[in-house]
Amino acid sequence: MRESQEPFIRIRDLSFAYGQGEARKEVLSQNNMELYPGELVIMSGPSGSGKTTLLSLIGALRSVQEGSLKVGGDELKDFDTRALLYYRRKIGFIFQHHNLFPALTAFESVRMALDSSDLPATERNSRTREILERLGLSHRLNNKPDSLSGGQRQRVAIGRALVHRPSLILADEPTAALDKETGRNVVDLMKELVRSKGSTALMVTHDSRLLDAADRIVHMMDGRIVSNVLVAPVVDAATLLRDSGLFPGSTPSEFLEVAQKMARLRYQAGETIITFGEEGDRFYVLREGEVEVETGGPTAPKVVGTIQRGGFFGERALISREPRAATIRARGPVEVYALDKDDFDAAIARTKTFQDQMLSVIFSRS
Ligand SMILES: Nc1ncnc2c1ncn2[C@@H]1O[C@H](COP(=O)(O)OP(=O)(O)O)[C@@H](O)[C@H]1O
Ligand SMILES: [Mg+2]
Repeated sequence: MRESQEPFIRIRDLSFAYGQGEARKEVLSQNNMELYPGELVIMSGPSGSGKTTLLSLIGALRSVQEGSLKVGGDELKDFDTRALLYYRRKIGFIFQHHNLFPALTAFESVRMALDSSDLPATERNSRTREILERLGLSHRLNNKPDSLSGGQRQRVAIGRALVHRPSLILADEPTAALDKETGRNVVDLMKELVRSKGSTALMVTHDSRLLDAADRIVHMMDGRIVSNVLVAPVVDAATLLRDSGLFPGSTPSEFLEVAQKMARLRYQAGETIITFGEEGDRFYVLREGEVEVETGGPTAPKVVGTIQRGGFFGERALISREPRAATIRARGPVEVYALDKDDFDAAIARTKTFQDQMLSVIFSRS
């Protein structure tokens, strides 16, 4: 779905083990992932599934053992000391367990992250004040860690990680110790950096209330990325599926599950999407553009109508198992969501089961 842009981070067959010999334990197995500029990725997964380990590899806190981890096209393994230093400076880390210097005030802790920048002192001070204000700490600027609550300390650590506007944000459950509103502020701050500066953010969280901020959601299980979903197109496809009325009674999570299996395809003006007489192999929902419907086959072709966004086609041949009864052609540039026959059959079958279940509930009541 993305072809024009290069990823900032590209991971291929990345594996990682702790310990050696008898004690060796593989905790990451053959992972693949891209992180693009301008996206906020949320990572979830059970405790012990390898999320923190993956973050520490991306952040160059641990060395790559097996597989490839590229930063801006270059293998991280090959970075020399200088390149590593430069890379780490571009990262804003937010750890689960922050480690603030006991002797520094909130203000000093955050401003210290700007020490290596070439900004004038006034600018450093104003940026520091600004971010602490955004994090609701204006009244705590001169407090040291021992006179701050756990949540306040976490917010200082977040300020310190973000004040230098990093290109890469690696955040490990940053909002776990925060209330709902402050958690939201933190995510908004990250989102702003991602949008305005084209930074990349990878955030581990279990807070489902924050999912709407994600451009992509990655799920980790037993050392493996088991799903990696681009949110907006999947939500869009799921909404169109729901509105199609073809799968009555399905739940949002069922629509999303089907939508995840759909491919986004593009066609040029004049291109044929479905050909009369052929076997049905896919179901389509129109995302953008307009297609025309031509019946009668090659002998007596006749355009009988058009379909716009939200309209669907291709389901008849799948349900009836008969050849395509029409040709569908793009009128201009067209984008569709396409679902393979097997996935379509499964979705329809489940809908039927659901309907049957509903009916039996109603019968058993009467
Ligand atoms: N420093 C370490 N030494 C040995 N094993 C570790 C170490 N850190 C983590 N592990 C183990 O690696 C697995 C993945 O841990 P982690 O990456 O912290 O997962 P998550 O962040 O998803 O909870 C767990 O089984 C954990 O016990
Ligand atoms: Mg962890």
